[in-house]
Amino acid sequence: MRSHPGGKEHTLRMLELAELPEGASVLDMGAGAGEALKLLRSMGFEAEGIDLKPRSTLVRRGDFLHTGFPDESFNAVLSQCAFFVSGDQSGAVREAYRLLRKGGKLLLSDVFFTDPQDMLRNAGFTVIYSEDMTGLWREYYLETLWRDDALCCGIPKGKSSYHFLIGRKD
Ligand SMILES: C[S@@+](CC[C@H](N)C(=O)[O-])C[C@H]1O[C@@H](n2cnc3c(N)ncnc32)[C@H](O)[C@@H]1O
Repeated sequence: MRSHPGGKEHTLRMLELAELPEGASVLDMGAGAGEALKLLRSMGFEAEGIDLKPRSTLVRRGDFLHTGFPDESFNAVLSQCAFFVSGDQSGAVREAYRLLRKGGKLLLSDVFFTDPQDMLRNAGFTVIYSEDMTGLWREYYLETLWRDDALCCGIPKGKSSYHFLIGRKD
């Protein structure tokens, strides 16, 4: 899993800290090659993934800014390194909020150019966990540029941070 800082270990850490109920329904927004989706399913979650350009047949093609799923469809939404590159990070957070049931959780790791906690709170979430991963993000960004595999495309120059947050819909 090279498409976000921290790889599979980070995905597992997000899930561990979120303490999702057994068999919870989870949507991966920006699921890419479906790696997190496979991991979620192997752990017994009822998982779906959506991406504009799916790189696996397991992932549905679609825009996570307008998913088309009814309100309150999921117990959790997971997204790694995808909301910012959509060009409407706060719109993606709002769509995640709409899709969650009461008590549902957003597990988000992403690049931020504004205050990440404010962004979640403005959408209605209670922030229950926040971790600054900027150091790891810098290493990942440089390595990605070095490999020239363009996974960081769409990230403008400037002082960004990388955060992992868990927001709850109360
Ligand atoms: C850096 S990749 C991360 C992929 C995956 N989350 C991972 O960590 O391996 C970002 C993904 O977000 C997707 N994406 C960007 N904007 C999107 C949108 N509006 N709707 C759906 N997917 C989008 C891209 O197609 C890409 O697959």
